[in-house]
Amino acid sequence: MSDPGIKTHAVGDEAEAARLAAGRLEELIAEAISLRGAAHVALAGGATPRAAYELLAQRLGEHEFVELWFGDERAVGPDDSDSNYRMVREAFSEAALPEERIHRIEGELGAEEAAESYSALLTDRLPAGEGGPPVLDVALLGVGEDGHTASLFPGDAVLDADGVCAAVHDAPKPPPDRVTLTVPVLREARRILFLVTGADKAEAVATLLKGEDDEQPATMVAGPQTELIADSEALSAG
Ligand code: 6PG
Repeated sequence: MSDPGIKTHAVGDEAEAARLAAGRLEELIAEAISLRGAAHVALAGGATPRAAYELLAQRLGEHEFVELWFGDERAVGPDDSDSNYRMVREAFSEAALPEERIHRIEGELGAEEAAESYSALLTDRLPAGEGGPPVLDVALLGVGEDGHTASLFPGDAVLDADGVCAAVHDAPKPPPDRVTLTVPVLREARRILFLVTGADKAEAVATLLKGEDDEQPATMVAGPQTELIADSEALSAG
C-alpha cells in the first residue's frame, strides 16, 4: 500500500499538539459553516483530546451552527467515569454550547441498541452523498498503540461493518463493550484529523504514515483528506 498522503503537523509536545488541534478544529468548523451553513464534528474519546477541547471551548462561544457528535462511546451512561460524552461535556463546560448540540451515544441502552439509535440519528441529521453514508464535516480521531481508532480494533469483524454505527464487544481497551462509527462513515468525512501524542503510539504512527498495513484500522480510515497532529515522541519511530 502506498503512502496515504497524510499531512503531518509535527509539534514539540502534548501542550503544543492540543493548541494546534484546537486551532485546526476552529478553522475547519469555520470552513464548514461558511461553505455549508453548519459544522458536524465527530469527536474522539480517550485522554489525549481533552486539553484541545478545553481550548476550543474558550474560542467557540455559543456557535449556533456547530453540532458535536462522537466517533465512539463506551456502553455506559453519561455520568460514568468511562463515558466519552462526560469527558467532552466537562471539557466544553466553558462554551455556551447548548446541551442539544452535543449528540451523545446512549451507551446505557447497551451496544446494539445504542448503535441502532445513533445510526438513525446521524442518518436523519447529516447530509449524505448519493445513497451513501452520512457525511461528517470533521472527524477528530485518536490512535491506540495497536493502531485502533474510534472503537475500531485490529482484527475485529466490525472493520467490515457497512452500516453507520456498530456495536463492539470484547474490545482489548477497556471497557469491552462499545459503540463505534464504522470505517465507511469515517472515510466519508470531509476532513479527518488524527491527534496523537506519546512514545507509546510511535509504532502505530509510523505504520500509519508509511501506509504499510492496510489492516491497521487507522490506515483503513485515512485518506487524502487526512491530517495528523503529533508530538515528537509519537513521531519518534518514523
Ligand atoms: C476511546 C477512544 C479511542 C482513543 C484511543 C487513544 O473511546 O477509547 O475513542 O479510540 O482515541 O484509544 O486514547 P488515548 O487518547 O487515551 O491515548
